[in-house]
Amino acid sequence: MNSPVKPINVFEYKALAQQDLSKMAWDYYASGAGDEVSLRENRAAFERWKLRPRMLVDVSQRDLSTQILGQFQQLPILIAPTAFQCLAHPEGEIATAKAAAKLGVGMVLSTMATKSIEEVADVSQQGNRWFQLYVHRDRGLTRALVERAYAKGYTAICLTVDAPLLGRREKDTRNQFALPAEMELANIATLKDLELPHKYGESGLFAYFAEQLDPGLTWKDVEWLQSLSPLPLAIKGILRDDDAVRAVEHGAKAVIVSNHGGRQLDGAIASIDALSEVVGAVGDKVEVLMDGGIRRGIDILKALALGAKAVLVGRPILWGLTVAGEMGVGHVLEILRDELDLAMALSGCAKLSDIDSSLVRYISCC
Ligand code: GLV
Repeated sequence: MNSPVKPINVFEYKALAQQDLSKMAWDYYASGAGDEVSLRENRAAFERWKLRPRMLVDVSQRDLSTQILGQFQQLPILIAPTAFQCLAHPEGEIATAKAAAKLGVGMVLSTMATKSIEEVADVSQQGNRWFQLYVHRDRGLTRALVERAYAKGYTAICLTVDAPLLGRREKDTRNQFALPAEMELANIATLKDLELPHKYGESGLFAYFAEQLDPGLTWKDVEWLQSLSPLPLAIKGILRDDDAVRAVEHGAKAVIVSNHGGRQLDGAIASIDALSEVVGAVGDKVEVLMDGGIRRGIDILKALALGAKAVLVGRPILWGLTVAGEMGVGHVLEILRDELDLAMALSGCAKLSDIDSSLVRYISCC
């Protein structure tokens, strides 16, 4: 860490990370699609939900642990799948996995990682790693990814369903986003000679998605996917009740309410605003998780009050990783843990099951 003063919140990590990253990497991590309305909404929406704390509850002992898909977790937090972590730090996903393992937090490894399924498995805890899948047109390659994750003890497949094409992030278009020569798609390169194409006037990732990912994916393919391994399926990118019901009908064991950090369909509803609808539809059948805009412990409290079993955290992890590698990721997780712990104490919740919908109220105007 170059800064003489240790950051005390996630936003301070963000400011430091912006100083350290190249413009191309910063823009890639920070941007949203289009006018970035959904990106901003993910934060703004949290502020519209107000807390209704309970008083004179004994909160002298607090427990933040939970079970997610049957696995014990120290915190109701998973590390969201984010691509190309070596852009942030040379150890990339390895550093993130080590920090997650130390804190007892689950990590979801991205298909588009710069460290492989196998390398990450070797440094992470069994039970605390999931694999995020992008279904490629090449079904053999897709199958091989799932089989490798299963063989290396990943405990769930997290299927991202909101990206038949990549959202248009205009800064990436302007920067002609590409990976530095020394970096590769670690999970893909061993299976097929694929890399991000260099396209004039286009993001290499946008072009990769258009060429390699299958925009024809439907619910039928979800059944095929489940035949590839016994791993439970979490479907990520759901924003409506009817899709959540379909996910459950097609065998998903968890649904992740997400607008992909505002990076796919600009104008899509904020994840936190879509949460209640999804919980109302399927919350008694499967675990509902959410991501998008989590920057504070109080955000986690609000998401749990609205019915999420846990949240996924993306960009803050990348900021911690940029600033101080494994230590930075660990510290970001500690900050969120301590903020959640304090928020629970101040709102009369000694354990996660004390957090219920009576803790929040939606107030749309000042
Ligand atoms: C990749 O998943 C991205 O959103 O950039």
